[in-house]
Amino acid sequence: MEAAIVCHRLVKRYGDITALDRLDLEVPTGSLFGFLGPNGAGKTTTIRLLTGLAWPSSGRAVVAGLDPARGGIELRQRISHQDQQSKLYGWMKGRELLEFVGRLFGFRGPDLRSRVDEVLEKTGLVEAAGRRVAGYSGGMRQRLNLAQALMNRPQVLFLDEPASSLDPAGRHDVLDLLADLRGQVTVFMSSHILEDVEKVCDRVGIIDRGRLVADATMTELQARFAEPVFAIELEPGQAAAGADLVTVLEQSALVGGIGRNGAVLRVAVNDASRAGPEIMRILASSGVHVARFERIRPSLEDVFLRLVPSQRPPETRE
Ligand SMILES: Nc1ncnc2c1ncn2[C@@H]1O[C@H](COP(=O)(O)OP(=O)(O)O)[C@@H](O)[C@H]1O
Ligand SMILES: [Mg+2]
Repeated sequence: MEAAIVCHRLVKRYGDITALDRLDLEVPTGSLFGFLGPNGAGKTTTIRLLTGLAWPSSGRAVVAGLDPARGGIELRQRISHQDQQSKLYGWMKGRELLEFVGRLFGFRGPDLRSRVDEVLEKTGLVEAAGRRVAGYSGGMRQRLNLAQALMNRPQVLFLDEPASSLDPAGRHDVLDLLADLRGQVTVFMSSHILEDVEKVCDRVGIIDRGRLVADATMTELQARFAEPVFAIELEPGQAAAGADLVTVLEQSALVGGIGRNGAVLRVAVNDASRAGPEIMRILASSGVHVARFERIRPSLEDVFLRLVPSQRPPETRE
């Protein structure tokens, strides 16, 4: 099957800044693609280029069979885009908002009503449809955003950080809903939260400073990069000692990357059976007070650590 999205050496420059640096990417039709990277990596820029909201400095893309740089009505009919900062009119009721959007896409009368019913059903908002959006929870608002984006039956759905600003319940809600869309529509979802992507996506691209640093299925990615990880939790008041510890650990050949989130260090290693004792030895001689030391299941965050060791990993959520 033809890929839903193809990027061929896409470049976007803003003056001296290269926001996107020769991005090559293929997103298979029907997949739930996670586009991961820290803030400023180039995720929103990519989505803007792929949705025709900005033009590449060079390179080209194909989205749902069309060149997004040429924009046009046809593209608008085949894709949907949910902005990172999308706003909803609080005074409208959920159903009214969807009717409004549906009219923009040319739905009228019974067609409009049945299309609105369909997306309300799909997004679990049937009960809430008669209430004002102002009273919706964060998760419900985001589901309504998705409902809006589904109104035109898009082939490709672009979601810019759809779960990032939500509390755990809302995030769970939205990710569940995305999982339900699998196979019905190609989803291109950006996020700086690895856990979210890990939950629902079947393919992942990782972007850092405008460059793609990995592109694989979730399984491949885990197998290739997610070597064992050790977590070290420091006792309170050990910030300075912790910094020294990181310096020493980084010098060990067995250490592949170190991430730090408050008092917890995550150490990605190359050979767990040798690295475990080695880290214990370093800990013992460092004099740092450790509250916890354990081997943990690697997450995508650790994958990122390994791919981009020179940089702090994206912050995990609370
Ligand atoms: N309109 C713009 N003008 C100048 N620089 C921009 C503009 N949009 C984005 N950038 C820069 O491009 C880089 C990538 O930004 P962005 O795509 O928003 O990253 P992300 O969405 O991954 O956080 C950043 O360095 C950002 O400052
Ligand atoms: Mg962004």
